[in-house]
Amino acid sequence: MDSTTPPRTDIDWASLGFSYTPVRSHIRYTWKNGAWSEGVLSGDHTITMSIAATCLHYGQAAFEGLKAFRCKDGRVCVFRPWENHKRMNRTVHQLLAPEIPEEMFLDAVRRVVRDNIDYIPPYGSGGSLYIRPLHVGTGPRIGVQPADQYDFLILVTPVGAYYKDGLHGVPSMIVEDFDRAAPLGMGQFKVAGNYGASLMPAKLAKLKGFPIPLFLDPREHKYIDEFGTSNFLAISKDGRYVTSDSASILPSVTNMSLMQMARDLGITVEKRKIEVGELADFAEVDACGTAVVITPISSITYGEKVFEYGKECGPVSKKLYDRLTGIQHGEVADEHGWLFEV
Ligand code: PLP
Ligand code: COI
Repeated sequence: MDSTTPPRTDIDWASLGFSYTPVRSHIRYTWKNGAWSEGVLSGDHTITMSIAATCLHYGQAAFEGLKAFRCKDGRVCVFRPWENHKRMNRTVHQLLAPEIPEEMFLDAVRRVVRDNIDYIPPYGSGGSLYIRPLHVGTGPRIGVQPADQYDFLILVTPVGAYYKDGLHGVPSMIVEDFDRAAPLGMGQFKVAGNYGASLMPAKLAKLKGFPIPLFLDPREHKYIDEFGTSNFLAISKDGRYVTSDSASILPSVTNMSLMQMARDLGITVEKRKIEVGELADFAEVDACGTAVVITPISSITYGEKVFEYGKECGPVSKKLYDRLTGIQHGEVADEHGWLFEV
């Protein structure tokens, strides 16, 4: 199969949300005795491992998220996989797990996307193929220590919008009773445990009517950190792009790309600590990330206070959204070389 293979006809592309659809194959590499195996494509939707695997007991699980798109000219391209590779290596380094050579990571992405190319939503549908690299300790240990075996897997699955309202604003609330990460902890790494920590605060916020929880810095609870699954960005009333600088947030590839695009458009970019009180100074607020793309935030509730940003996507955010998705679909020139053709 190659990029001329058309999308399947047995999937209703228009109704895809951000959910798991089984596809043809995943790819798996095993690290043992200091070396990675060749990658094997498998049609099995389950994996087996030791009951004492360290990913099950001791949090030795790193993951990534990126997307493949069908472009206007028929190519299939993945957005900035080099950055996900670097971030995954930073995460596994922190977990004392073996790093992955860049060529192996890119080859794995290429092979698994190609093998499932008919699962990539059609150009113009708004959907994409979500790519989820996973790096887990699979060797058995009962003491807390690194494993002697790891598996690197990539699953792919077609997805639509993370929040069903698309570019309509979603209300957020600041979480006051929980932190998603510790001040000197793992917030800047993409480890599975961070998402376990976010489940309860996310559920409590959702029950109050807020689908996106916003976390504060865990040391002082004074500055904006990030949303549960995405970075925080704001456009100030005088048109600056403002985003959080914090050691406990994930360095987002989407945010990094948006900052570059904002600079390209002549917008001043400020990556710095943002005090909660500054929420009153912003004209537009968005969540940004691979899954959420740019999701406008309609309001942020903080105790008794409510900061309002409007129900629709603001003009600067919309411009950035159009440019980002335009590059991803080959409609806008890829001047920074962000697309990886498979
Ligand atoms: N912050 C968190 C906690 C995330 O899980 C994600 C998603 O990966 C992001 C930010 C956005 O990062 P990226 O743009 O690389 O997807
Ligand atoms: C992503 O945006 O790729 C993520 O990993 C966020 C989330 C779905 C956990």
